[in-house]
Amino acid sequence: MDIQKLEETAAAIVAEGKGILAADESDSTIKKRFDSIGVESTEESRRAYRDLLFTTEGVEDYISGVILFDETLRQTSADGTPFPKLLESRGIIPGIKVDKGAKPLALAEGETITEGLDGLRERLEEYHGLGARFAKWRAVISIGKHIPSEYCLWTNAHALARYAALSQEAGLVPIVEPEVLMDGDHPIERSFEVTSHTLHAVFTELRDQRVHPEGILLKPNMVLAGYDSPQQASNEDVAAETIRCFKRHVPAAVPGIVFLSGGQSEEDATANLNAMNAMDDHPWQLSFSYGRALQAAALKAWQGKEENVEAAQRAYYHRAKMNSAARSGMWAPELEREAVTA
Ligand code: 13P
Repeated sequence: MDIQKLEETAAAIVAEGKGILAADESDSTIKKRFDSIGVESTEESRRAYRDLLFTTEGVEDYISGVILFDETLRQTSADGTPFPKLLESRGIIPGIKVDKGAKPLALAEGETITEGLDGLRERLEEYHGLGARFAKWRAVISIGKHIPSEYCLWTNAHALARYAALSQEAGLVPIVEPEVLMDGDHPIERSFEVTSHTLHAVFTELRDQRVHPEGILLKPNMVLAGYDSPQQASNEDVAAETIRCFKRHVPAAVPGIVFLSGGQSEEDATANLNAMNAMDDHPWQLSFSYGRALQAAALKAWQGKEENVEAAQRAYYHRAKMNSAARSGMWAPELEREAVTA
């Protein structure tokens, strides 16, 4: 294992002012996104949409890495350049989603286990050959009356660590994503408790399975009240509780925490990240690895039409720029308005 290379890649992904675009929607997820704008999901429409994102001029100032889905890693830009090559030529690191999705966990109603470990060593080797330099595996933890169970937390943490060890062995930086879903009517305290418990399991398994902490990135949820809770916390409270939780569990050796947006509005995802970075210094870089919060406006502007490509690229560029500002606590709501009137 080339530890130095892993550390360099991880550091480049969380370079100052930059973050990750998660464009690794599975076929079923991208179909849902396309359904929302009335576009049929075909191999070509998916390719065209990803092409639009990846060829957005200037976005490399704000985006350090892009997570791809298996199909996309093998596709090409309109001029025939393979997507991983195109990204690399612009200084953006290609990554790959390697899990095979969350499936029902046996004998545990309402809970899931993420699959995809069988044959993973061989797939990672192939992905590295195709140009991927980092990987992603997402575990899903739901909050409910009697869940998550200890069983669900530890089986998912065990699988995350197995994936992380295999990724490092193959020379890919593992993005370790234990996502505690933000759905539900629970208060922020419950999110804190479950996120804390989840991180405890994840970092115990990572250590037990010899994963090198300097060569991973953590991709977690933020600590906030469930979306249906009547008591929503302020951006400052979300930032404070999230940092308090992470300080308890995430070793300072981990170079970066790259948050998922998880269904927050685009502006909330930016404002919460900004509030965290506006606080005192933290031992890790605090960045973004957003899917919906970087793409929602672009998708809406695109509508599957060639003549809207530029407008969609402007929308994506704008969100990338706003989140880049949030990396240093320099974002303000006025920046959003200035951009709209510019
Ligand atoms: P969202 O930011 O839309 O939650 O997606 C991030 C992601 O990659 C989830 O796995």
